[in-house]
Amino acid sequence: MACPRCGGLLDVMYRWDRHPVPSSLRAFEAKWSARHDPHSFSGVWRFHELLPFAPLEKCVTAGEGQTLLLPSGSVAAYVGLRPGRLFLQYEGMNPSGSFKDNGMSAAFTHAHVVGAKRAACASTGNTSASLALYCSVTGLMKAVIFVGSGKIAYGKLSQALDYGALTVQIAGDFDDAMARVKEVASQLGIYLVNSVNPFRLEGQKTIMFRVLEALRWEVPDWIVVPGGNLGNSSAFGKAFWELYQLGLIPRIPRLAIINATGANTLFELVQGRGMRWNGGQVDRRTVDHFYHEMDSQGRRASTIASAIEINRPVNLAKCLRALEICRGVVREVTDQEILDAKAQVGAGGLGCEPASAASVAGTRKLVSEGVIDKDERVVCVLTGHQLKDPDATVAYHTTDQELFNRVLGKRGVRRATYANRAVVVPNDLDEIVKAIHLYS
Ligand code: F0G
Repeated sequence: MACPRCGGLLDVMYRWDRHPVPSSLRAFEAKWSARHDPHSFSGVWRFHELLPFAPLEKCVTAGEGQTLLLPSGSVAAYVGLRPGRLFLQYEGMNPSGSFKDNGMSAAFTHAHVVGAKRAACASTGNTSASLALYCSVTGLMKAVIFVGSGKIAYGKLSQALDYGALTVQIAGDFDDAMARVKEVASQLGIYLVNSVNPFRLEGQKTIMFRVLEALRWEVPDWIVVPGGNLGNSSAFGKAFWELYQLGLIPRIPRLAIINATGANTLFELVQGRGMRWNGGQVDRRTVDHFYHEMDSQGRRASTIASAIEINRPVNLAKCLRALEICRGVVREVTDQEILDAKAQVGAGGLGCEPASAASVAGTRKLVSEGVIDKDERVVCVLTGHQLKDPDATVAYHTTDQELFNRVLGKRGVRRATYANRAVVVPNDLDEIVKAIHLYS
């Protein structure tokens, strides 16, 4: 998956002159009338002409990409945008409950085309749930997944176990698991589906195609996305660059990538140390120096948003390219900000897991700084379903101080400003009726 000369990740490039692309994005709407065909139904393969690396008949689908772009008045008010300006791209509706299915259908397709029988990944939980699902739904491959000990939310771990994946729990965190899975995959000849795999990013481009589609092909002003391993942000930059080059969109939206403060490598490198794409000449020495510093201080990634608890993002260079293409910015948000934003997202009608809410918390920060104008149209990507990590949600809303402290207090979360507390009543009809009158 890496260039033998420079060690950089490979990229998928197309000879567009050999792959006919519709002259208008509206052509993709025609596929809605053929939804009985699984490839037209798929929110990924519906856009096959824009990711034509395999023949359509070989493309694997599990019904991914049936997602929603919902305007949210209450979340707009929370982040300081005018009504009607904030949209939530809800990727929790995917078969495995996160955006990962977009990329997995693509990487899985490539694995199938090259005849792989086993596929592996390291994961903070969603990639592994997705791989395990594609293996069990299609029966085409066996999944081998690597997770860090105690570093994965139970909703996600339960999926991998339920779908029958060989689950290897190693003593370490995601960064350790990632390093190991590369070694194991190369030693045992197992196909690697982490986002070092460029085909993953091809599938993830379609999230942006569906955003445009839901906006009737109008380009929003901002896309805001949580940053972990940086595959998603890299894919979004590539998607917009290709659409622009093909003359299918008139302009490119701006991109904001949001780190958690406890796992903020991108923020430190870009905002703190001025790191840039630099025409592809990425300054590896600054990165190596930063990692060396982290190691010598014994600093490990640590955030309640376990999905993005990553200190060594594998797609760093491609993400710098995306920031360049989209005139992007990077911010960090605390676990407190993440959980407050998550409660607001939930109260506004859609739940999400903690990492996803980083996009909303980051938008709030950027509006307060005046970087995003309150009149601009902003799309926050909600990357994962609320049920992925119920522990974080229950701990936020709980009346049990011990539970709050155990799960959240150790992460510097002090308040649950938007908590919806359960009302505790004796098992007595009069008392229950009284409580309902009192609280409703
Ligand atoms: N949000 C969720 C819910 C995720 O699961 C992830 C990544 C991200 C955001 C960050 O996306 O890596 O493309 O920058 N989860 C990976 C996993 C690392 O193993 O499931 P990214």
